[in-house]
Amino acid sequence: MSTSIILFGPPGAGKGTQAVKISEITGKPQISTGEMLRKSVSEKTDLGIKAQSYMESGLLVPDELIIQLILERLKEKDAVNGVLFDGFPRTLNQAEELSSIVKISAVISIEVPDEEIVGRIVGRRMDPVTGDIYHVDYNPPPNEIEDRLIQRKDDNEDTVRNRLAAYHKQTSPLSKWYSEQGILFAVDGNRTIEEVGRDVENFLLKKEVF
Ligand code: AP5
Repeated sequence: MSTSIILFGPPGAGKGTQAVKISEITGKPQISTGEMLRKSVSEKTDLGIKAQSYMESGLLVPDELIIQLILERLKEKDAVNGVLFDGFPRTLNQAEELSSIVKISAVISIEVPDEEIVGRIVGRRMDPVTGDIYHVDYNPPPNEIEDRLIQRKDDNEDTVRNRLAAYHKQTSPLSKWYSEQGILFAVDGNRTIEEVGRDVENFLLKKEVF
């Protein structure tokens, strides 16, 4: 039976950064609800119009919209051998719904303290052409693409505080839920991108969870 992996952690923990390599190793496509929502907002779809104000104020988008989005995405061909969920589930309700439709083999939880998060988020820059993620200090972009980089609308200090509050209240309890199922792998995310990546890679290769 095909199984899926969840990348879990607070905003700015490095989920998107590590997802690229995990997808490469496991062959599972990354499903980022944040990315899908941002696309919907920019295309002004019904979902995007409903989700925009939640996202811009750092609140979670209602469960029913997210679950519908995931159900649709999982119908696509590339999801047949399992996927890598990035930023989903974020509430117990989403997690329960997910457990009724797919089997989860591992939850990789990237742990970073709040005081580190704000600097990561405020310094993040995105490449709209490739989707690559940079940081002005920790992962600087090459000079030749600097002019095209963008900053996410929700990457400001006020919104980050709300995102962190939503994470602690609604999302972080899921780590206990998954830990009790024996599938949570916690990684110290307060190290360099390479160090975190090495731990994740070793875990994946040792455990053969895909
Ligand atoms: P989403 O897009 O999922 O944002 P998030 O969870 O807040 O996560 P981020 O994308 O901010 O961080 P990340 O962990 O991917 O970090 P990254 O690798 O970029 O969601 C946005 C919004 O959509 C939510 O607020 C909500 O409204 C809505 N939403 C999405 N999913 C939802 C759901 N399931 N339910 C309800 N609502 C939902 O790294 C961050 C920065 O740090 C980068 O600049 C990077 O270069 C740098 N960095 C990464 N690793 C390191 C390291 N080890 N050391 C130093 N710097 C690092």
